[in-house]
Amino acid sequence: MKRPGIFITGTDTNVGKTVVAAGIALALKERGLKVGVMKPVATGCEGNEKYLVSHDAVYLWEAAENEYPSLTNPSRFRNPLAPHVAATLEKKSVNIEGLKKAYRELQKHYDFVIVEGIGGLFVPLTKDYFVSNLIKDFDLPCVIVAKSVLGSINHTLLTIDAALVRGIDIRGIIFNRVPVVNYSLAEITSPRAIHELTGVPILGSIPEMDGLDVSSCRFGRLQQVFEERIRIDKILGDPSFAS
Ligand SMILES: Nc1ncnc2c1ncn2[C@@H]1O[C@H](COP(=O)(O)OP(=O)(O)OP(=O)(O)O)[C@@H](O)[C@H]1O
Ligand SMILES: [Mg+2]
Repeated sequence: MKRPGIFITGTDTNVGKTVVAAGIALALKERGLKVGVMKPVATGCEGNEKYLVSHDAVYLWEAAENEYPSLTNPSRFRNPLAPHVAATLEKKSVNIEGLKKAYRELQKHYDFVIVEGIGGLFVPLTKDYFVSNLIKDFDLPCVIVAKSVLGSINHTLLTIDAALVRGIDIRGIIFNRVPVVNYSLAEITSPRAIHELTGVPILGSIPEMDGLDVSSCRFGRLQQVFEERIRIDKILGDPSFAS
């Protein structure tokens, strides 16, 4: 049986994919689901060569309380670069078949698997295989994490177009780091403009939060923010397995 899940992509690096993936994990766990998390490829990892560690993977892992570290983050590189570039520099490669195998294995253990991409849709994992290919091969719908600052309409529409052209199902957009005070005109108007121009649902927005940090593994009020502000039902899709 095909087990459900979601792929978290973004308009860019550093937009909040890890925060969103962790927030979804916390919210689904609260609903009684056994949630698996995966960061198939991570770069900018730390630690010794035998055991490179990704902050993203640790954050997801802690949020979901998972049990299979080798499946969560199978491919790791030290240099903070696109995977294909980091792999070339480090004289390694990204084993795409290995990623698919790890994902299939995770699906067996969990009700719902949340996969965080790397950068945006056109980040190369090998010279001819991109994040968009991985989403298709995992056969998952995606959530797009975006900013609402000036320039976001262009970045978000490019991402939506690239996904739709490739037949990737978009569940919706989550805007991150939306200021609650001192916001700009662009920050007030961009989300609605993006929805009106594309028809893609807006699943909610996450404010700039104190007490939340991926690198030191702090969640702050993330779970509460997701309960109050994010349309978890839309991310789940078919609710029958969650009841
Ligand atoms: N809503 C928020 N409030 C405060 N800090 C945030 C928020 N969202 C993200 N951050 C911080 O911004 C940084 C980037 O967020 P995050 O790691 O989730 O982005 P990403 O898209 O996953 O990045 P990458 O491309 O490296 O995987 C992190 O240090 C995180 O702690
Ligand atoms: Mg991340």
